[in-house]
Amino acid sequence: MEKLEQLYEGKAKKVFKTDNPNEFIIEYKDDATAFNGEKKGSIVGKGVINNKMTELVFNMLEEKGIPTHFIKLLSDSEQLVKAVTIFPLEVIIRNTAAGSVCKRLGLEEGLKLKTPIFEFCYKNDAFGDPMINDSHIIAMELATADEIETIRDMTYKINDILKPYFFEKGINLIDFKIEFGKTNDGQIVLADEISPDTCRFWDVKTNEKLDKDRFRRDLGNVEGAYVEMLKRVQS
Ligand code: TMP
Ligand code: ASP
Repeated sequence: MEKLEQLYEGKAKKVFKTDNPNEFIIEYKDDATAFNGEKKGSIVGKGVINNKMTELVFNMLEEKGIPTHFIKLLSDSEQLVKAVTIFPLEVIIRNTAAGSVCKRLGLEEGLKLKTPIFEFCYKNDAFGDPMINDSHIIAMELATADEIETIRDMTYKINDILKPYFFEKGINLIDFKIEFGKTNDGQIVLADEISPDTCRFWDVKTNEKLDKDRFRRDLGNVEGAYVEMLKRVQS
């Protein structure tokens, strides 16, 4: 399997065409950004860790009935995936208050939410990924009402699978962001990644943060947190 034309370069990954129109190659990078690209850096080993963690988590989700774009790992930092058109949506679930919801609504970090909060953001860097709702999505033709329903149902199911999966590994899943895509034959699948870049992970016993907040907030031992999270997922 060979990388052909580069289709896209994002902040943390590159996507390449292959000689099969139904398959892309994703290359994970060590580059890290925060606050919509305002803060830039690099986390040594992150590309390899996020590639491997996404492989393990997506395989586990597939086994539990969630369709994903993942096909197979190609190397430490590359994976083969189904070619999809990504919905320009960031789909967020929050089980515990942290990050932007605390700033926006004055909630205390660590507040356990009575029910998960579901949010959509419009994936658009120029506008800072603003939060939107179903009505915006349908009006702007980002997805249809039926597609929104599929995405919402799958996201809640994914949360119901991920919470106990990580809890068994001593991790509280505080919140996460996922993305969905549509394959060439029209199936909606989980795409992108599930990693410390895209989730908040707190150690169950100590509440230690084991995710990208260590980079965002200069908490130190960023690399160590990524290494620890891969170890937990591999256990
Ligand atoms: P937030 O609290 O900053 O809105 O983040 C919610 C979750 O989404 C958190 O797990 C981090 C993740 N996230 C991304 O993956 N990409 C992003 O661009 C942002 C802002 C958050
Ligand atoms: N806001 C993203 C994050 O903190 C990264 C970025 O937008 O530059 O995960």
